[in-house]
Amino acid sequence: MMPTLPFLDIHCHILPGVDDGPDTMEQSLAMAESFVKGGVGHVFATPHFIAGTAWSLPALQVRQRVKDLQSALHQNDIALILHPGMEIALHYHLVKDLENELLLPLGSSNCYLLEPPFQQFGDDLLDIVLTFKKSGKGVILAHPERIPFLQKNITHLDRLIEHDIMIQVNLGSLLGLFGRKAKKAANYLVKHNSIHFVASDSHGPDVRKPPTIKQWRRLEKILGPALIKRLCIDNPAELIDKNYLEKSNHD
Ligand SMILES: [Fe+2]
Repeated sequence: MMPTLPFLDIHCHILPGVDDGPDTMEQSLAMAESFVKGGVGHVFATPHFIAGTAWSLPALQVRQRVKDLQSALHQNDIALILHPGMEIALHYHLVKDLENELLLPLGSSNCYLLEPPFQQFGDDLLDIVLTFKKSGKGVILAHPERIPFLQKNITHLDRLIEHDIMIQVNLGSLLGLFGRKAKKAANYLVKHNSIHFVASDSHGPDVRKPPTIKQWRRLEKILGPALIKRLCIDNPAELIDKNYLEKSNHD
């Protein structure tokens, strides 16, 4: 039996015109409608933050864009609740960017969604993550199962997990939408009970679109009802202020 909906999606690109997500407000609204249709009630808007590129909207501006989109959702009677966030490409000046207040955590938490580079994840980057953590921040690693280096060196992930780094796996990886290697790595993480979140990483209403009820059912067959509830409802809810959740339930 599917857990009580709605799901909470901690990783998606729904803000218009900020990265490789939707280009227009209309596309963002269409995407939001798909989320609701697919049983998702809350999403964390996590635009790419890639330092030194055009995709590096600072924290304050992301918060404003989230507010603007939330207003548009209300005006269009779309029952999707947005939370601020950011998918931060792991880089050498992470701590400095944090000090300069460029980076956003997820929702009301002090946890940051960090995207590992696709090619390499050596000790130098691990050190950066650990320094970041030492400043009191939680780290959630975005879709490590998609990273070729980690697919080849899957036990490298165990070292990250030993350091209390949380793992977010893409729903599409578990369903096989990102190829055999990503699926195998995702299954390894499930088997070792190493995943903290499953999220969509959706990018638009048509391509890499929000999950459907059918896909959630397939995911439930893979994870089982208790685990899907933990990874897609309970753990994400921990990132949101409880008063805010109660308030939005009664609005
Ligand atoms: Fe993403």
